[in-house]
Amino acid sequence: MGRIHVYLVSCFSAIGGFLFGYDIGIMSSVLEMVDFMTLFQPDEWQKGFIVSSFQLGACLGALLASFAADFLGRRMAIGLGSLIFIGGAIFQTAAFNLAVLYTGRIISGVSIGVLSMIVPLYQSELAPKDIRGRLITLQQLAITFGILVSFWIGYGIIEDGMFNGWRLMMGLQIVPAFCLLTGVMFLPESPRWLLERKNDPVKARNSLIRVRGEEKSVEEELQEMQMGIDLEHSLGKGGWKHLFGRAMIYPLSIGILIQIFQQLTGINAIMYYAPSIFQSVTSSKGISNLAQGINGIINFLSTFPAIYFVDRMGRRKLLISGALGMAICFATVVGLFGVYSTVGASGEVNFTNITAGWCAIVFIYLFVVNFAYSWGPIGWILPAEIYPLQHRARAVSITTATNWLGNLLVAQFTPPLLKTIHYYVFLIFMGCLLLMTAYVWFWVPETKGKSLEEIETYFIERSKTSKRTKRNKKLEEAFTEPSNLGDQVALPRTSTLSDVQLGD
Ligand code: BGC
Repeated sequence: MGRIHVYLVSCFSAIGGFLFGYDIGIMSSVLEMVDFMTLFQPDEWQKGFIVSSFQLGACLGALLASFAADFLGRRMAIGLGSLIFIGGAIFQTAAFNLAVLYTGRIISGVSIGVLSMIVPLYQSELAPKDIRGRLITLQQLAITFGILVSFWIGYGIIEDGMFNGWRLMMGLQIVPAFCLLTGVMFLPESPRWLLERKNDPVKARNSLIRVRGEEKSVEEELQEMQMGIDLEHSLGKGGWKHLFGRAMIYPLSIGILIQIFQQLTGINAIMYYAPSIFQSVTSSKGISNLAQGINGIINFLSTFPAIYFVDRMGRRKLLISGALGMAICFATVVGLFGVYSTVGASGEVNFTNITAGWCAIVFIYLFVVNFAYSWGPIGWILPAEIYPLQHRARAVSITTATNWLGNLLVAQFTPPLLKTIHYYVFLIFMGCLLLMTAYVWFWVPETKGKSLEEIETYFIERSKTSKRTKRNKKLEEAFTEPSNLGDQVALPRTSTLSDVQLGD
């Protein structure tokens, strides 16, 4: 029963994810709308910038978000993100020329950059350790729901031929953003932020009681948080400079690579451009848009298994099986295109065998399934849980910004690559997926079931020696066993603080 509160708070804050997803999905439909194209008459470059101005803004927003998260608190920063979003959505809805449209896209992007950084961070700081992965997965579920809703609204508007339907699509986003803005006033603040930044144990305790829904059992958790904070303060190293010190290199590299790899899976090549890929199988725009709508449903439904598995099987197994599954799907898609399609004089690819073409679409769907239960949610879970509190907001800002940068690169380069090397573009993503499998296998520790403070101690201990020494191996094994870390290495509660040196 106590858990219901934390689920409700996480679901509500995940509205930020819904807005994120809605904006990812919106453009593939809007760019197909005749009245939109007639009004703005964008050339190819301008078309690209209508999409990527949003990601540029998101990159910027993610970097700025750490200031808001640290100075205003997690809750108010979510409020600020939704307020900026409403401003951006108004500009987009009312746009009458490209300059206003770009401005709206950039403003909305900034807000989504802020929200995509803060919501998982906030969820991770409120979550009990045994369901942390599941709670952050709610953010991914909301993202996929947002994509699904925008695909289908777009499909309906295009089929109906509604005049100014694109304005309706842009304007509708204001409703959930307004709900988030008003609702955030009633959310509890992160107890970890209250302890660290405000040094206010009373408010932190009250906040934790609100989230847990009961008074008993919060004392031990608060004590653990306080010990983690004392440990960090004794080390006395916050600030941007120390973010790049030796102690942070390993966790920071994991967060950055996991986020950039999430984009290099090629998921957004599918989310943004699948309709044009589907047109190799069917020349009907209606059917290929419908196939994209189905893609949205599959993406959403396949995120549910992650809710169940991420805290049971752990992050590593899902990342590895997801990456291998996606690589196999892309290999099959390339094989089918290679054998059963031809490239026309103007560069268009057409399937000569319709059954093989539909098989390729099925394998694209299976690719999405493999992404949705693994790299989709875990791309956001890992960065939100592996940093010490004093660096957390800044580090998550950087990792989130790299996600948006990767998103931008994939959005920008996929169309020219599809035009020049056609379906072989999937081989590039396949190569990345194999690399990612090896990376996770060798470098990413399992974090399931560990408290944020235990994870922090692991990285501090590991930073004492940078090579893969026997000690690090032992540490990794101990960390992987449930609650074993405290017996094998010095946890804050058993160590003398002078034992733990960052030594950068
Ligand atoms: C990614 C987005 C992607 C979405 C697809 C998210 O985790 O960050 O870039 O479009 O998943 O579901």
